[in-house]
Amino acid sequence: TTKGLKDYYQNYFPIGVAVTPHDLTGANRELVLNQFNSVTAENAMKMGPIHPTENEYNWKIGDSIATFARNNHLKMRGHCLVWYSQTPRWLFKDEQGNTVTKEVLLGRLKEHIHTVVNHYKKDIYAWDVVNEVIADDSTYFRNSQLYKIAGEDFVEMAFRYAHEADPKARLFYNDYNTEQPKKRDKIYKMLKALLAKGVPIHGVGLQGHWSLSQPSRSELEKSITMFASLGLDIQITELDVSVYAGNQGGQLIQNAAQNAKAEFTPEMESRQLEQYKMIFEVLRKYKKNITGVTFWNLSDRYTWLDGRGKKNYPLLFDTELKPKKAFYEVTKF
Ligand code: XIL
Repeated sequence: TTKGLKDYYQNYFPIGVAVTPHDLTGANRELVLNQFNSVTAENAMKMGPIHPTENEYNWKIGDSIATFARNNHLKMRGHCLVWYSQTPRWLFKDEQGNTVTKEVLLGRLKEHIHTVVNHYKKDIYAWDVVNEVIADDSTYFRNSQLYKIAGEDFVEMAFRYAHEADPKARLFYNDYNTEQPKKRDKIYKMLKALLAKGVPIHGVGLQGHWSLSQPSRSELEKSITMFASLGLDIQITELDVSVYAGNQGGQLIQNAAQNAKAEFTPEMESRQLEQYKMIFEVLRKYKKNITGVTFWNLSDRYTWLDGRGKKNYPLLFDTELKPKKAFYEVTKF
């Protein structure tokens, strides 16, 4: 067998991948086992999928991934306990269909977090407890249903509930666009205030949904050093490098790319390789602070970014599951 990413990085940090049950079969499974030593469930442990109605938990998919991780000695990250998206409808409503009070909502979050964290206590070493609560615009918190009902207190309480359920788990705040100065400052301020209050937060997850143009080396280094200065672990939790400029569905580098069959052009290939090279140079430089790097999907055959009307090629393995040029670039050091 050949050397995988996890072997090149064994003296740095675990290398993970977000998976669905389909990734645990056939050639996908082989690739996962050859290259990675950590997994995250791409969707299965989010509140909507795992807790679809108040009195019903759906453990099946999460358990199958946890069993795979356990049997193959992979680490497992939990994603995620509280998020504004993929949240079940029942969470915010009482039996009459009225919006619940803050007290009821916090009680429901407490029950959810205790149950899920406890269920995966043996398998999961780190949880994304709170995902994406800081706004992209000039406001501070995202004006989600959670925030409208419970104000900012749900953030603090979610970490406390998770810590009660598993005092050994590493607890993360996770977000995207963490390299944009204004958003970064807001996240930093929130984390600093929570830490000052003694809230059990151990790390920050930089999602790492990056692109050919973002982040710059200096923005990335600044984010790592700023969050590390709070004494937090840093993980890149959802790494991919979109072959389009901009981030999160931003500007395209070519108009022709706006279709489901857009090709992976030589220009994309060379720019993506440079971006991946820069990212991993920085991550190796800060290995003291970085405790994990997880890719968001396995190969370019399927990526969540495809669901935006255009084919994307954001990962290190191509549509045939073969290593791309960028793979050789990040393993050459
Ligand atoms: C994405 C999944 O990859 C998709 O399959 C799903 O349809 C939507 O969610 N930030 C996160 C992840 O924290 O949970 C998201 O995952 C991607 C953006």
